[in-house]
Amino acid sequence: MALVVGNSDGIGLALTRELLRLGWTVLGLSRSDSPVRHESYRHVRMPVQEPDYAPRLKPLLSPAPPDLCVYCVGIGQPLDLSRMEQEAEVFEVNLTAMVKTAACVIPLMVRRGSGHFIGISSMADELVSAEAPSYSASKAGFSSYLEGLALALRPKGVYVTNVRFGFVDTKMAKGDMKPFMMSVDRAVHHLLTCIERKPIRYTAPWPMVPLMKLQRWVTRLKTLLPVSPPKR
Ligand SMILES: NC(=O)c1ccc[n+]([C@@H]2O[C@H](COP(=O)([O-])OP(=O)(O)OC[C@H]3O[C@@H](n4cnc5c(N)ncnc54)[C@H](OP(=O)(O)O)[C@@H]3O)[C@@H](O)[C@H]2O)c1
Repeated sequence: MALVVGNSDGIGLALTRELLRLGWTVLGLSRSDSPVRHESYRHVRMPVQEPDYAPRLKPLLSPAPPDLCVYCVGIGQPLDLSRMEQEAEVFEVNLTAMVKTAACVIPLMVRRGSGHFIGISSMADELVSAEAPSYSASKAGFSSYLEGLALALRPKGVYVTNVRFGFVDTKMAKGDMKPFMMSVDRAVHHLLTCIERKPIRYTAPWPMVPLMKLQRWVTRLKTLLPVSPPKR
């Protein structure tokens, strides 16, 4: 059985459809309803940032834990200094809820001695971003946590994969410039490769790597330059 969290739209929805086509039984959890209708599919509406998320998730994992869990939930918005209270929600949805999902699923996998937990992070995890600092920072924590978990779980027969995507053609891909943007089908193809090979870190598409390194250095230089105070 596969558990896909964040699958009413985008990459999670396309992955769910592909897993069902391949013969998996799928349990989907998401904020919205699912357009998927299939005899091997069950959908539960659940906003992951709510305090009752973990207590509601746990009973869905018995009698048998999932063989595969893919955390696809993600939100991001440009920094709005007049509404900074929404910044914390990005961390709660992108990072804290992933950690809560792992805490519900992974101990059951460890007890059974098998399982695969995949989290979809972003190549933005290595950036310091003035435009969307909460998105980059939440993905930095996401990647670091999952890769640490992957190393800790190696001897237990449980695999953890941190997937770092560049732009993917969904409603989440924002901005005027979206270099090397992948189709959703291509992103799903990469996820199927991860399910098969179970790497700790998987980055795609590769042509984005030098671009991200360049952007990281430009930002690093900006942080080193002296800032002149605003004129009054
Ligand atoms: N698209 C990109 O360019 C890109 C690049 C790098 C990494 N990623 C990552 O890939 C993952 C999937 O993104 P996507 O592009 O497929 O985005 P998407 O199309 O917006 O899909 C995200 C899914 O998560 C659900 N969701 C959002 N907030 C939720 C919440 N609080 N509780 C439960 N479900 C929630 C959404 O539900 P609704 O249907 O209600 O919106 C939707 O089903 C994210 O982690 C994202 O950060 C995306």
